[in-house]
Amino acid sequence: MKTSSLCVVGDMVQRDESGNNRVAIAPQLEAWTGQFGDEYVNRNDYADWKMEPGTEAFRRILGGLDIESVLEVGSNIGLNLLFINALFKGSVKLYAVEPNPKAFDKLVSQTRMKLEKAWNCDAFQLPLPDSSIDLVFTAGVLIHIASDDLGRATGEIVRVARKYVLCIEYFSHTPVEVPYRGQMGLLFKRDFGAFYLDRFPLLKCVNYGFLWQREFRIFDNLNWWLFEK
Ligand SMILES: C[S@@+](CC[C@H](N)C(=O)[O-])C[C@H]1O[C@@H](n2cnc3c(N)ncnc32)[C@H](O)[C@@H]1O
Repeated sequence: MKTSSLCVVGDMVQRDESGNNRVAIAPQLEAWTGQFGDEYVNRNDYADWKMEPGTEAFRRILGGLDIESVLEVGSNIGLNLLFINALFKGSVKLYAVEPNPKAFDKLVSQTRMKLEKAWNCDAFQLPLPDSSIDLVFTAGVLIHIASDDLGRATGEIVRVARKYVLCIEYFSHTPVEVPYRGQMGLLFKRDFGAFYLDRFPLLKCVNYGFLWQREFRIFDNLNWWLFEK
């Protein structure tokens, strides 16, 4: 089925020649589930030295929160979940969604933490009931979703979250597309905190901050916002 033969009727929903609605795969997701995504996995493997700074970063963001379950959307091989597991000393149930098959295989075959459940799927249709996970978060994932698709992904994140939504992404005062690894169409920066608050008035921002690369070599100057639902 060629996308060019479809008529667009809404966020990623298109109508084919027979009049049936079909969900189109976003071009960004196509890249992430292919060789481009596999190369990210090769560049970003586990290393012992990452545990200390990674756990400290999440201590600043999540330290003291009363949570029993966490879902990372776009977890890749699960490094952030490892940090959270270390921070909460194994007491939090960990869930993950990851569309890239290579990353997903590494995630579910690792033995450093116990994953409650993981799904090889994307943010656009999370396979979880409403308000089922205490904290749902992304780190460096919303920046790879085009503006037209962002409402759908964040809508799913807010739907599944019971207590908190955490967003760790690159900031820009105004929405802007920038090259990523020499390619356009793959990286979009904006004020994601304002995006969440404007779109989901039920959210309350309880904290926000910045992971400065000078301090945290493993993070690439990321802004974060923690929302209570
Ligand atoms: C830059 S990596 C960040 C990985 C991980 N969150 C971290 O901080 O190490 C982006 C991840 O988002 C995933 N991804 C891309 N598009 C996605 C989408 N639409 N839904 C869910 N995950 C997506 C990619 O496969 C990749 O694992």
